[in-house]
Amino acid sequence: MRRKGLAIMAAQTVASTSTSAPTSTSVDLGPAAALSCRECGQRFELGPIFACAECFGPLEVAYDLPSGSPEELRKRIEAGPANIWRYAPLLPVPADVADKPNLNPGWTKLVKADNLARELGVTGGLFIKDDSGNPTHSFKDRVVAQALEAARAFGFTTLSCSSTGNLAGAVGAAAARAGFRSCVFIPHDLEQGKVVMAAVYGGELVGIEGNYDDVNRFCSELIGDPLGEGWGFVNVNLRPYYAEGSKTLAYEICEQLGWQLPDQLVVPIASGSQLTKIDKGLQELIKLGLVEDKPYKIFGAQAEGCSPVSTAFKAGHDVVRPQKPNTIAKSLAIGNPADGPYVLDIARRTGGAVEDVNDEQVVDAIKLLARTEGIFAETAGGVTVGVTKKLIEAGLLDPALTTVVLNTGDGLKTLDAVAETSQATAVIRPSLAAFRDAGLAAH
Ligand SMILES: Cc1ncc(COP(=O)(O)O)c(C=O)c1O
Ligand SMILES: [Zn+2]
Repeated sequence: MRRKGLAIMAAQTVASTSTSAPTSTSVDLGPAAALSCRECGQRFELGPIFACAECFGPLEVAYDLPSGSPEELRKRIEAGPANIWRYAPLLPVPADVADKPNLNPGWTKLVKADNLARELGVTGGLFIKDDSGNPTHSFKDRVVAQALEAARAFGFTTLSCSSTGNLAGAVGAAAARAGFRSCVFIPHDLEQGKVVMAAVYGGELVGIEGNYDDVNRFCSELIGDPLGEGWGFVNVNLRPYYAEGSKTLAYEICEQLGWQLPDQLVVPIASGSQLTKIDKGLQELIKLGLVEDKPYKIFGAQAEGCSPVSTAFKAGHDVVRPQKPNTIAKSLAIGNPADGPYVLDIARRTGGAVEDVNDEQVVDAIKLLARTEGIFAETAGGVTVGVTKKLIEAGLLDPALTTVVLNTGDGLKTLDAVAETSQATAVIRPSLAAFRDAGLAAH
């Protein structure tokens, strides 16, 4: 059965939320009207639940989206703050969200990557959406900001998560700013940059002896146990709200392109949540008339050492078979991705694809992006740039079309990936003679 994993998690959650969720009298999450099941469409009241009580399918936020003309809505958005809250009318957050203590992520740079485009032979316009510019240097600040508002609305005071690294740091920082307690869980063997970023904000950080899928399983157990009672797990019981944060990437990309859809997007996949919500965001913009309706293609990117979705895509399957991850792209190392089947649907529906690159290609791509555009990406960015190159070479990505490639994290967090091959050109005594002898002089 396609969604068996979800069914097991759902059964646990439905049981647990009735006992461990704090009660809330009034929930103001702005235009969010209900939760609806992505499988059967059943609707539920807003609450800290993530699975359908009827069919165990995953829940997502359903909206009363703003009425009025597209021109009015565009103007309202453009007059908003230079962060994700400019899109508050399209997000599950209260109208006064910008006044609350949070990290105000988003409105990151969309870089026109002409040098990289020349190297890759792209003529239709190549852009890097550089989300390393967020407060904790990854796109996870976007999703955590939504989860934090949901946590406030439901009366949680502790934030938690299972994380491949970036999410743990984003939760720690957001909790510190908002005055919440945090206790986050990661695989014990992550990169030092990720561990330090997750610990420095003063919350509790727990390394689990196992991979991400073990951490996630552990958190699903904890949520149904008195030991985790009353905790808001941003990517478990707050997942429907958390996931909506990725829509802001779609909104920003289109607004930054002058309220236009790109033709092609290349998006990294761990759980697949980000990719599915980028698609949801693009669909909303079309529905609201904020962009002109035209076809776009979404391409998913994985590391070969953790490629359950690309393997299923290439085999023509709609079932994603779990894998044991082994790759330097640790932020994407989810062997059993919850949104995998939905990613397959979107890649196929839009005419995109899902591809993977090996670790050597990831390193080459990190250095290619750094050398051509001055952007130092984490391994997840090496995966998207590497996959973009591979897709162009395979004729699957059209170089004559406008293409946006996501860099979702900062290279300073994954220094080890390039440290060995990125060292000083020379080490010399502080003398002109020594410099001349090193062969680097202008004349
Ligand atoms: C840097 C980075 N990019 C992309 C992703 C993929 O996120 P998702 O689980 O939504 O597919 C992650 C997830 O941890 C990440 O850390
Ligand atoms: Zn259902």
